[in-house]
Amino acid sequence: MAGTVESVREEEPLKGVSEEGGVSNDRHCADGLGVSKLSTWRTATFLLSFFICLIIVFAFSFVLPCPVRPQYQPTWNRIVPAAATYDFLAVGHVNPDQVQDVVFIYKSAEGTMNQSCIGEGLPSPCLFLLAVDGTDGVTLWERPLAAVYDWAVCGVGGVKTKGKICLVAHTDNLTAVNMHTGVIIWQRPRSPVINGHLPVILLPDLDGDGTDDIAVLSYIPPVPPRTPAPTELVFFSGKSGDVIGLKVNVDAGAVRTHLQVTTPSGAHYLLLCTDGGLYTVGLWRLADRAEISMASKLKKENSWEKKPTNISGLIPLYGSGALQHMVVVKGGSGSSSPSVLLQTASTIMLLNTNTLSISWTKNTSQLINIPSFGHFNKDGVSDIVLEENLGNETKRVVIVDGQTGRELWAGSLLFGTQSPSPASVLTIYSYSVFMLWGETRTQSNVTRGISEEWASYLLHPHYSSVLLERRNPVQNIISFKTALLERGRHACYLVLSGANGSLTDEAGLGGAEPVVLTKRKIKDDVSQSVVLGVGGPEGGAIARDMENFVREAFERLRFNEEMI
Ligand SMILES: *[C@@H]1O[C@H](CO)[C@@H](O)[C@H](O)[C@H]1NC(C)=O
Ligand SMILES: *[C@@H]1O[C@H](CO)[C@@H](O)[C@H](O)[C@H]1NC(C)=O
Ligand SMILES: *[C@@H]1O[C@H](CO)[C@@H](O)[C@H](O)[C@H]1NC(C)=O
Ligand SMILES: *[C@@H]1O[C@H](CO)[C@@H](O)[C@H](O)[C@H]1NC(C)=O
Ligand SMILES: *[C@@H]1O[C@H](CO)[C@@H](O)[C@H](O)[C@H]1NC(C)=O
Ligand SMILES: *[C@@H]1O[C@H](CO)[C@@H](O)[C@H](O)[C@H]1NC(C)=O
Ligand SMILES: *[C@@H]1O[C@H](CO)[C@@H](O)[C@H](O)[C@H]1NC(C)=O
Repeated sequence: MAGTVESVREEEPLKGVSEEGGVSNDRHCADGLGVSKLSTWRTATFLLSFFICLIIVFAFSFVLPCPVRPQYQPTWNRIVPAAATYDFLAVGHVNPDQVQDVVFIYKSAEGTMNQSCIGEGLPSPCLFLLAVDGTDGVTLWERPLAAVYDWAVCGVGGVKTKGKICLVAHTDNLTAVNMHTGVIIWQRPRSPVINGHLPVILLPDLDGDGTDDIAVLSYIPPVPPRTPAPTELVFFSGKSGDVIGLKVNVDAGAVRTHLQVTTPSGAHYLLLCTDGGLYTVGLWRLADRAEISMASKLKKENSWEKKPTNISGLIPLYGSGALQHMVVVKGGSGSSSPSVLLQTASTIMLLNTNTLSISWTKNTSQLINIPSFGHFNKDGVSDIVLEENLGNETKRVVIVDGQTGRELWAGSLLFGTQSPSPASVLTIYSYSVFMLWGETRTQSNVTRGISEEWASYLLHPHYSSVLLERRNPVQNIISFKTALLERGRHACYLVLSGANGSLTDEAGLGGAEPVVLTKRKIKDDVSQSVVLGVGGPEGGAIARDMENFVREAFERLRFNEEMI
């Protein structure tokens, strides 16, 4: 009842209006006619636009071609005969397709593109910076440079949209090569930074020429036969290679190692690991001391600047203990402050750069490699992969929780002369899969006794009681890296193997082995692997269904971009 009463009431105001004058009723009828005409028009317009839409849809689906997704070879090898190589593998966009490409360096008398060192006016053997296509390993460009190689870095400086550079420090020069064309952009004497060390410090444009600039820190670590040199910072124009401003003496004493950290607010700081402890200094302060007019473009981190500094502007972060090494923890969430892993002879510590305090400390044995990172659990904090040397050619691989310093996983593997650092690839499920290297002893032959075989291992955090072992034919690994060559897909690993360029002299190159760069899809290793209990072949028999279960879990994985 209440409903009807209300509906009557609602209609009444309209009634009232229409009854006010007789005309209003007629007008109502006229309006009705107009509406019907209007609706014809509306229908026509609707149909017309509908057909236009259809035409557009058809045009896009049939007439205009879809962008073609690049086809890639799951596995490729790039072989350079009679050469030696260095621990340098850069992944980045060289050609304009969606797949990232690979840049590496080898030393030889001849290039792969019909160039010889002598022909290029360089002493033989010389260096070749070679960029190969990520899809199939075919040469994109090759740049001969004078040996001796010191260090290289790719994807720095330049204008953001067109033309990152590869910077190579070799013999007397610092050479900037356009990463897309392989053409030398500039070549400058290295004399201001003869002891320059990686990583090169990346900066915004400081000289107003529209390209990002760089700085190189020069020092000699206090390792006994060498006498320490003053720690100096030199700013270079990314566009011309000209030195910007003055050379700055950082005045930090004997520096062992350094890092650049960028806070979430975009402030650039330098961390210096010295005999006296760990210090940080703002690049704004150093640029200011270099008398660069645009030094004010460099931001300050106010919470850090509140800390006491000494006269040189160094902010002490960690006082005691001889720090041996430090690494920025990779793969944290993009918005949080970077963490830094500090390493002494017997401990590792996590420095939280937000609070500038040590989050946790963990005792370790002697480490074989620089720690690497990945997500073993799903807490969004990067976990740390350590390799402890247990002696007797055995290493203990430990995954440490980045949040607490607690051990999450541990397994023992044999290792011989070489032991590349572990690596990981992030999946869309917020955990990573890990790849390790080691050796296995197999009771292969009664006459030959125990033989050793080189192998790679895959670890899935959800099936952490087993490892997938692939007996790997690759020997003499100089550099190893995992990568996603396309956005969110194409998870692979790259292995650069051959003679060590730092150890081979000219005479050694004549009969040298080839240098081989191999790309393999990670999932392709799964079917070629055997499933082992952690701890090696004796680790326990694995049930057949478990084996298939683990393989399927790997096959199902989808990969994700790592945040730096
Ligand atoms: C290599 O150089 C030779 C002689 O200069 C030339 O005949 C040949 O076409 C070149 N090959 C390539 C692939 O450039
Ligand atoms: C260093 O660069 C200069 C200028 O480009 C060049 O003349 C010289 O040959 C280079 N030296 C070496 C060893 O590459
Ligand atoms: C600042 O601290 C560093 C590191 O201990 C030291 O080498 C330097 O001499 C100090 N500078 C001054 C002016 O005290
Ligand atoms: C780490 O080592 C120190 C000194 O050797 C020792 O006092 C401490 O108990 C150790 N901590 C752990 C957790 O084992
Ligand atoms: C080293 O390994 C061999 C073979 O596995 C074993 O016989 C030997 O006892 C080990 N030595 C030590 C010190 O652990
Ligand atoms: C044992 O070694 C010999 C010589 O290398 C080889 O021919 C033979 O196949 C091996 N036997 C086994 C069971 O691996
Ligand atoms: C190559 O030789 C250099 C110089 O001795 C050494 O530091 C480096 O570790 C070697 N690299 C590999 C992968 O063995």
